[in-house]
Amino acid sequence: MPAADFVVVANRLPVDRVIGADGSEEWRTSPGGLVAALEPMMRRAHGAWVGWPGQADLHLDPFEIGGIDLVPVALSAEEIAEYYEGFSNDTIWPLYHDVIAPPQYHREWWDAYTRVNRRFAEAAASVAAENGTVWVHDYQLQLVPQLLRELRPDLTIGYFHHIPFPAHGLYAQLPWRDQVLRGLLGADVIGFQRAQDATYFLTAVRRRLRHEVKGSAVAVPVEDGTTRTAIARAFPISIDTTPYLELAARPDVRARAAEIRESLGNPAKILLGVDRLDYTKGIGHRIKAYGELLTEGRLAVEDVTLVQVASPSRERVDAYAHLRDEIELSVGRINGDFDTMGHTAIRYLHQGYPREEMVALYLAADVMLVTALRDGMNLVAKEYVATRADNRGVLVLSEFTGAADELRQAVRVNPHDIEGLKDAIMTAVEMPKGEQGKRMRSLRRRVLENDVEAWSSSFLKALDEVHPH
Ligand code: G6P
Repeated sequence: MPAADFVVVANRLPVDRVIGADGSEEWRTSPGGLVAALEPMMRRAHGAWVGWPGQADLHLDPFEIGGIDLVPVALSAEEIAEYYEGFSNDTIWPLYHDVIAPPQYHREWWDAYTRVNRRFAEAAASVAAENGTVWVHDYQLQLVPQLLRELRPDLTIGYFHHIPFPAHGLYAQLPWRDQVLRGLLGADVIGFQRAQDATYFLTAVRRRLRHEVKGSAVAVPVEDGTTRTAIARAFPISIDTTPYLELAARPDVRARAAEIRESLGNPAKILLGVDRLDYTKGIGHRIKAYGELLTEGRLAVEDVTLVQVASPSRERVDAYAHLRDEIELSVGRINGDFDTMGHTAIRYLHQGYPREEMVALYLAADVMLVTALRDGMNLVAKEYVATRADNRGVLVLSEFTGAADELRQAVRVNPHDIEGLKDAIMTAVEMPKGEQGKRMRSLRRRVLENDVEAWSSSFLKALDEVHPH
């Protein structure tokens, strides 16, 4: 495979394995925003994507799909348990989301994380062209920037952190806190979702490593006694708005939205939650608030339905298995108490859906509930807004999401405050059309002007400024 001028490194490859009716195997690009944003650039600059194909012990040769070279990194079942489910999703994930669940610290997990990060760095080093650019993504790969710089000092290296970075008092718990900071500082530009995340990172760098920090610039000492500059600042991510606008305008998708409403018994108001089934999303808080509104008679099951899509996620991690039990218990209780033959309080769906169906749901929803306790950005909020070309619908948005920094015209909530959350739901349910329109217009302007393409361009521009070729 020829050397690539632009290399993306992420835990997952942007493809799904599709098994045909005859048992044949095929790979298809998964419709993520990241791929959409980077695809044009990857085709132009001869791009490669380094990532894990999503299953244990799958040793695949690099292959090409839609003009992008894919470079699979194999993980054994034990590495999946220790690097992916363990260190990434049971240590870093809960720690970086403000310890909503207790992080587990295990030295074997750290060893596996180091080993696997080295494998990703080696794969990237082997495909990148001389003086090429490598863009590393997310918390699973925090050591890759430094490991890659050691292997290939000629490269320009960017890193984007898709999840929150915690305050120093929490970050300091991590037994490998200095190693992780050094790993990230291997990049020329370290991007975060919110200004707050960048500030927390820079504070940790100053306090733990004692490097000089001026504004967003860190002076990173190098071997010969001099320093190089690493920039850490916010680049809020967004969505590829085009497919959402197109789907929202399609007659069959609009007909499907009407059909969904019909099949729920034509309630006056449909409330919607769409999340990976994750303890950071505040699904339990949302259901509790809604259940109390029904109990108190402020809402009635004949008039409202809550549709909760909770897509299966990280099911072998204990905290996720417990969460599922908890949520399903409360959904069952509320439905048992309030359902009638013709109406349901909560239509709970533990499934993932294609984008067409999600857009139909967004169009059917009068109120979108995003009540995360902590969330790097929350792209569902932006997807909902993008589809509402009719300027109708209300977004209820947690203050603890990255999206809250931008989407100022949403109904803002602190999901820990159940009374406040109940009032916010009522405000949304009762909001007059005029005000819905006013708010939605301003939300849409923001999302449509700052799409994922604007995000990737601004990141790559910053990378070019700090490390011009
Ligand atoms: C978050 C993370 C991503 C991750 C995704 C799905 O959005 O920031 O890095 O890929 O969740 O989680 P999974 O563990 O299935 O990759």
